[in-house]
Amino acid sequence: MTPTERQRLLEIATEAALAGGAVLQHYWGRLKQVEEKGRADNLVTEADKAAEVEVLAVLQRHVPEHAILAEESGARGRAESDYLWAIDPLDGTTNYAHQYPFSAVSVGLLFQGQPVVGAIFDPFHKELFRAAQGLGATRDRQPIHVSDTTDLARSLLVTGFAYDRRETADNNYAEFCHFTHLSQGVRRGGAASLDLAYVACGRLDGYWERGLSPWDLAAGVVLVKEAGGKVTAYDQSPFDIFSGRILATNGHLHDSMSQELNRIKPLSQFAPVPS
Ligand code: IPD
Ligand code: CA
Ligand code: CA
Repeated sequence: MTPTERQRLLEIATEAALAGGAVLQHYWGRLKQVEEKGRADNLVTEADKAAEVEVLAVLQRHVPEHAILAEESGARGRAESDYLWAIDPLDGTTNYAHQYPFSAVSVGLLFQGQPVVGAIFDPFHKELFRAAQGLGATRDRQPIHVSDTTDLARSLLVTGFAYDRRETADNNYAEFCHFTHLSQGVRRGGAASLDLAYVACGRLDGYWERGLSPWDLAAGVVLVKEAGGKVTAYDQSPFDIFSGRILATNGHLHDSMSQELNRIKPLSQFAPVPS
């Protein structure tokens, strides 16, 4: 794919993220439908669904031949397409439903399975994060870069907890305690795309999480890499967006965070009770 083509697709991603963001602004404080997706802590609202409709309409207008994987409506288009858009119309639904203003629209594009373009729009702070492979990363069209923190003891980290946390011993609780002890703090933002965008712009130094979906990660991964950071699996093997597991840092902290992640054992008191 040429840089010109990546730039064109970045403009489309941006248009889609802004269109979704306008919907999130519209429904803010006016939600009537908050449904549980089979469990009390996994919510979907009319804002998620309406934002997704707007994002998909933009893609349909510009790139109807591309495949799509969107959180609320699933997969569409030719499975063998080189282009797959991964859409989270409302990343941070729990925050949004509680009127805690930390959510975003995340629009990422995979080319032959690799994230290459991303646009993340935070409608509350009105911040637009964008990146495309080889073209750099920006916040509100100004170049951004990861932090230069080299010492875990001086770092501010972020993570999150997947919806299956009560059903698996691999629920990230031990990791959260461990890094809280070693760093200046660990935040739980509640919107994976913004966690990644914040690593990209140096507000946070490192991020790890498991149990994620491609739509949570696609756009943010491009941002971190293009801002000079590093993205891998916990053990530093190549990142696989379908594994749901990510270690994304400013690069300087990558070795130490990976080493710590590989020696943490689950907290047994929070493991599910065997049936
Ligand atoms: C969730 C958020 C959260 C992460 C969860 C995700 P959603 O996405 O990104 O930060 O910890 O694993 O599922 O459900 O709000 O789109
Ligand atoms: Ca999400
Ligand atoms: Ca979502």
